[in-house]
Amino acid sequence: MEKIEITLNINDKPCEVRVFPNDTLLEVLRDELDLTGSKESCGEGVCGSCTVHMDEKPVRACLTLAMEATGTRIKTVEGLANGDDLSDLQQSFIDHGAVQCGFCTPGMLMSADALLNENPKPDEKTVRMALAGNICRCTGYAKIVEAVGHAGNPQDHCPDCKTKE
Ligand code: FES
Ligand code: FES
Repeated sequence: MEKIEITLNINDKPCEVRVFPNDTLLEVLRDELDLTGSKESCGEGVCGSCTVHMDEKPVRACLTLAMEATGTRIKTVEGLANGDDLSDLQQSFIDHGAVQCGFCTPGMLMSADALLNENPKPDEKTVRMALAGNICRCTGYAKIVEAVGHAGNPQDHCPDCKTKE
């Protein structure tokens, strides 16, 4: 099998990369483009740790071929912050203690970001539904759900929360 040169649009930048036809988007992001924020855990579409956006929709990068991503806009967790400025969602995760080991966090953020882009003020049930495909082994989910809810509804002020209003 020979490698083929493709151009991907990652975080609004064109990236030329040589891939095998069966390389996954996750392999190419991590191993060829050094974008290691997206994590591989199950590698079979179950855990959500590899979630990225393709044309603003969350997809499993471990189940997506890199070649399928040509002609689309891919956003990874590296694309959430603006330089050193974290997004409100990222800051809310920190403020609410929603990160423990952090392995699920990039995927959680990308699923939550897609939700907030579509529905800026989700209720708790909607947040839980949107994150149902993302597994966390540490937090018990409550703080993650709170962090996402607060990022969408900053006027619902929580005690000790420093998230921007
Ligand atoms: S690594 Fe992709 S869903 Fe688990
Ligand atoms: S913070 Fe450890 S798996 Fe979620």
